[in-house]
Amino acid sequence: MPLVSMRQLLDEAAKGSYGVGAFNVNNMEQIQAIMAAAEETNSPVIVQASRGARAFAEDKYLYHLMLAAAELHPNILMALHQDHGNSFDTCKSAIALGFTSVMMDGSLKEDGKTPTTFEENVDVTRRVVEYAHERGITVEGEIGVLGGVEDGHGAGGTGLEHVTDPDQAVEFAERTGVDALAIAIGTSHGAYKFTKKPDGSVLKMNILIEIHRRLPHTHLVMHGSSSVPKDLQDIINQYGGKLKPTWGVPVEEIQLGIKNGVRKINVDTDNRLAITGAIRKVFAETPEKFDPRDYMKPAREAMKKVVAERMREFGQAGHGKDYAPVAIEEMAKGYASGKLDTRPSLAAKLGDIGFVVSRPCDRKNSQGRGRGLGERDEGPFHGSGMALCICHASLVLSQRLRRTTRINPITWRHGT
Ligand code: G3H
Ligand code: 13P
Ligand code: ZN
Repeated sequence: MPLVSMRQLLDEAAKGSYGVGAFNVNNMEQIQAIMAAAEETNSPVIVQASRGARAFAEDKYLYHLMLAAAELHPNILMALHQDHGNSFDTCKSAIALGFTSVMMDGSLKEDGKTPTTFEENVDVTRRVVEYAHERGITVEGEIGVLGGVEDGHGAGGTGLEHVTDPDQAVEFAERTGVDALAIAIGTSHGAYKFTKKPDGSVLKMNILIEIHRRLPHTHLVMHGSSSVPKDLQDIINQYGGKLKPTWGVPVEEIQLGIKNGVRKINVDTDNRLAITGAIRKVFAETPEKFDPRDYMKPAREAMKKVVAERMREFGQAGHGKDYAPVAIEEMAKGYASGKLDTRPSLAAKLGDIGFVVSRPCDRKNSQGRGRGLGERDEGPFHGSGMALCICHASLVLSQRLRRTTRINPITWRHGT
């Protein structure tokens, strides 16, 4: 199966009310671990590569490994995403390479360290959205700044210095037209996120919930979402590592996020910990071994276990074959027609109209599914009355929808 649009995966996740893990890769074994976990759990997957990963693996190796994964796993829906693009050019080069999704992290300047102004962020993100959408490619933006520094990327700090302002999140979504929005709620990249199990004073789930209340149709993204499990820390330290005590984001908090609009969850550190622990164990227990396969195999298996666990916890497990992939060219048409536009002002208008017509319809459409008023469809406004059966949708209403949203409401006749 060709690589698919991340937007499609997230739209489907919104329909099914689950989250999709986005796992970072740098090499073949990590890609294999993710694909094996996706097979085991029947999950759609987002595989992501940072700038550092692209430099480490070299673009062509990385991309062709992804093509091999797609060829070997033809039934798995898979998006390839640029993690933390630092400039228009980074995103452009990822698209040229074949990535189906990019993150323009305009919350930081191109140096990947210095926070930008709101206007700078809007400007660069909007330019990437225009360029990417013309080509059917998904865009994730970020408003607010995470804590920590990974591979030279990050503003440092605890994660509480630049927590997302919900007003700005709404304005940012409106002015950029991003498909997905990463928000800062106190998390940091890397292993050292919290000094004890986080509570509301350091992990601002209330802000996430407020942003979702104001942007109910925007896919939210949680970065820095490794849980940094104690058992993985212990294995590393048991075999000679020196990790200081630390806490990550508890899975139950991520699950609360998923109930409140989080559709993409970024996980890298947990996999790094699993890999390192497994390698250390082999080195410590069998120091005579020197064949890389002797330690890379258990490392790959340890990562697969973590990824499969997260896939089950985020709810994507079991959803691997729910829907057919939409070609990237079709996504481009969807963006051009406005059908995939999720800017809040459009969603709000449709929401009003959806309320007017929200009488449920229990009849079936031609695919045999019940899709009454107020139910979701493949339109951009999840759950806001995009799908209309024509016995309930008057011509006047259809015209009004078309005029206010530039979108043709989907209609069908009962019994057809
Ligand atoms: O953004 C953070 C990810 O963990 C990627 O990290 O830049 O060290 O590859 P990296
Ligand atoms: P972790 O460091 O918590 O795994 O976060 C990864 C991430 O956000 C990648 O963008
Ligand atoms: Zn991140």
